[in-house]
Amino acid sequence: MITLALAKGRTADDSIKLLEQAGIHFDHLNSKSRKLVFYDTAGMVKLIFVKALDVPTYVENGAADMGIVGKDNIMESQADIYEILDLKLGRCKFAVAGFNGTHPSNNNVLTVASKYPAVAEKHFHKKKIPINTIKLNGSVELAPLIGLADVIVDIVETGNTLRENGLTILEEMDSVSTRLIVNKASFTTKSESVHKMIHTLQTGLE
Ligand code: PRP
Repeated sequence: MITLALAKGRTADDSIKLLEQAGIHFDHLNSKSRKLVFYDTAGMVKLIFVKALDVPTYVENGAADMGIVGKDNIMESQADIYEILDLKLGRCKFAVAGFNGTHPSNNNVLTVASKYPAVAEKHFHKKKIPINTIKLNGSVELAPLIGLADVIVDIVETGNTLRENGLTILEEMDSVSTRLIVNKASFTTKSESVHKMIHTLQTGLE
């Protein structure tokens, strides 16, 4: 049996739909349930629901053989896993955002608020711009509004949250979408089941 970790949150419903499309069915499975473990009707898959940022951690440590999670969380976790498939769900992008006219390089030490401090630090380090990072867990757009940070690094999907808070994209970064990831050991030791699962999900995508 394959243990598959699924990210709770914004992409959970689409991921469940994809599993169903691929012919992997679960009884009473929906993202609103408080239950965290489900088994598919064919007895092939144990599905566990975890916080999105924890999916790469579960997979890296072998607590799950595979995971379905956004590229944003894979990048932030820096986990040592195989990224196998782009499931093309939850498409958005990383961006530096703030008030129009804020130029990151004009300040000496820029204060950056983000749910993704590792991504933010890597981005500005590459540009040789020193930053102070403030880790937040949500409502990140508030940070420039109340003077907690100069800019934010966050994912942008429709752009509504930025617009409604008077902020704008200052710099576009990497594209993000949901990916299928695999534990490195499971890829070899459970090769047959893992490849069957990859193939099944690929079929669900077509
Ligand atoms: C995410 C992200 C932005 C928003 C972007 O937050 O951090 O705030 O969605 O989406 P948009 O461009 O379509 O407006 P989320 O909804 O996950 O809530 P959070 O602030 O609690 O993290």
